[in-house]
Parts: sequence; C-alpha cells; structure tokens
Amino acid sequence: VTRSLSQNSSQSERPSFGVAFDIDGVILLGHTPVGGSPRALRRLYDDLGALKIPYVFLTNGGGFPESRRAAELSEILGINILPSQVIQGHSPFKQLVNRFENEFVIAVGKGEPAAVMTEYGFKNVLSIDEYSSYFDGIDPLTPYKMWTAREIGNGVKTERGDVVSKRVQAAFVLSDPVDWSRDIQVLCDVLRTGGLPGREMGDQPYIYFANDDLEYQANFPTERLGMAAFRIALEAIYNRIHCNPLVYTSYGKPNPLVFKNAEKVLGSLLHRDKPSHHIPEQFNTLYMVGDNPKVDIRGAQQAGAPWFSILTRTGVFKGKQNHQEFPADVVVDTVEEAVDFILRREN
Ligand code: G3P
Ligand code: MG
Repeated sequence: VTRSLSQNSSQSERPSFGVAFDIDGVILLGHTPVGGSPRALRRLYDDLGALKIPYVFLTNGGGFPESRRAAELSEILGINILPSQVIQGHSPFKQLVNRFENEFVIAVGKGEPAAVMTEYGFKNVLSIDEYSSYFDGIDPLTPYKMWTAREIGNGVKTERGDVVSKRVQAAFVLSDPVDWSRDIQVLCDVLRTGGLPGREMGDQPYIYFANDDLEYQANFPTERLGMAAFRIALEAIYNRIHCNPLVYTSYGKPNPLVFKNAEKVLGSLLHRDKPSHHIPEQFNTLYMVGDNPKVDIRGAQQAGAPWFSILTRTGVFKGKQNHQEFPADVVVDTVEEAVDFILRREN
C-alpha cells in the first residue's frame, strides 16, 4: 500500500483543503472507533490506498511516541497512518529540546512519557515512576498501591546517589497522570525545593503541561477528568504549602499556535516533494472536526481563516442545537457525516 499523497493527481488537481480530526470523542471512545470513523477516513484515500486528501489527527492526548500512536491508530482504524499525521498535546515539547537537551528533567503521565521525551532529543530524562523509586519513603502510600509492584525502567537501575542528588530542572506532564497522590506529592517536592526533594526550599523549576483539558470523552457515558483537573489539584495544594503561586505553561488546543503548526504539517503532506522550509500556504479551507466546543471549536475560531469548525455529537458535546458560547460553523452527529459534508462542499 502506497503511503504518500496520491501522485496521480496533477498539481492543479491537488486539493486546496485539508482536515484535522480530534481523536477522543470524534474518532475513538477509549480504544473503540466511534461515529463510523474507519469508513469516514477510508474516503480520504484512493483505491490504491494512497492519501487523496491531506489530513492529520490533532489531539490533546498523548503518552506514546507519534510513531507508536500512528501504528496503533492504523491497526484500530484499518488504514495506513504516517507518524507525521499524528499531532499530540506534547508534540510542541520537541521545540524545547534546545533549552533542556542536557538538563535533568522528569516526565509525567500514562504510557511511556520518558520514551517520548527521549525520542524528541532530551538526553537526561526519567519518568516520574522511575524517579520516585529512588527516594525511600517519598510516597508513604506506596505499600498500599499493589499495582506499583511492576518493574520500573526495564529493571536497569542507575546508582541511587546519582539520581537523588541531581537537580531536576523541569517537569513535563505529557499525558494524564496515573497515580495522582504520588505525582502531586513528588511534584510538590520537586517544585518547592528547586528540584531536590527532601532538601531546603529553592526556586521553582519549570513545569509544562501538554494540554489544559478539564474534561474529555472516553468510554463512559459522562466526561472524564483530564489534565487540567490534575493541574488544578496540584496548583491548589502547591499554593497552600508554598508562599509563591505555581508558575506553569500549558500547551495544546485551543492555543492558536497548535492550529498554525497543524496548517504547516498539512502543507507538508500536500507538498511532500518540496523542502519543508518552502511550503506555500495555499489552503482555501482547513476543517477542524472536534467534539469539545471550548477546546476544538474555540481553537479553530481563534485561529481564524482558513479554519472552518465542525462539531460532532459523539463526545463532550451532546446538545441538539449549536453550542451557545462557542458555536461551530456546522454541527453534525458523527465524523462520518462531517467527512460527507466536507467532500460534498469541496466537490
Ligand atoms: O487525554 C485526552 C484528552 O484530553 C483529549 O483528547 O483527542 O479529544 O483532543 P482529544
Ligand atoms: Mg475530543
């Protein structure tokens, strides 16, 4: 199966539109396709399996390298998805590598957050799971957490002294944290001691969050708490135990920079044969298909032209009419209807 954009079409025939699909609540619920997503996406390929319409996944989720997420999505959806088509909440962390390349940093969240950071080029990174394991007694609840019995860091241990005396310069929250109580405890320790848990107070290291989603839709009738819920819990506690309020940076939709970057990535899918620094911005329309009015629709609106927003009813939004505060350009039931609308509008 050819994985590049269909070469059959001449330059002039190439589409002047592209699509960004949210994942949770639009394409998947948990790991299960929703809204006819496999059928909808197949329409964006030609009969030989080559991409006809440039599209990306623009998700605030994450926890695994883009290559692994692309493989997993390909498997679930039955199509060939390129790693470059997967833009996750933490993808912009790549741009911070110059600043922290050799600095000691910790990575927080479900999945393989340290592997993601290593793939981005960070040379001195530990997951918070592994980092915490070097500090005896840092989480007094550990003996009651049966699930922590699994092996951490592939069983290869660094010298304890090398870790506990190394100053953490930054914490990166890549995906939803699993063990909130341990992570809040350890992050408070890191943040209030200038990166040396158990020691004196110090200047707060940097902390970055991959998104600021309060709630998102997974495989349960009502929304689930997301990364912003964790951030609020951490911040509330930190601000009570420390004299200066928590300073942090959040990435992800609805930040317009995320949409600018998606536009660039879509452009490079369209012009795969040209060097990436010279990609003409020639999309007439870019469609954002999302389920969360405050995040996906608001983001597309703030990004402005050429973005056009389509809201589905398979996720966070379940209303009959349009959303009051952040109305989409179009509301449909499912992603399949969204693709149908786009293809009809463009033909
Ligand atoms: O944890 C994932 C969630 O915050 C949102 O994912 O795909 O709806 O942007 P998505
Ligand atoms: Mg969503």
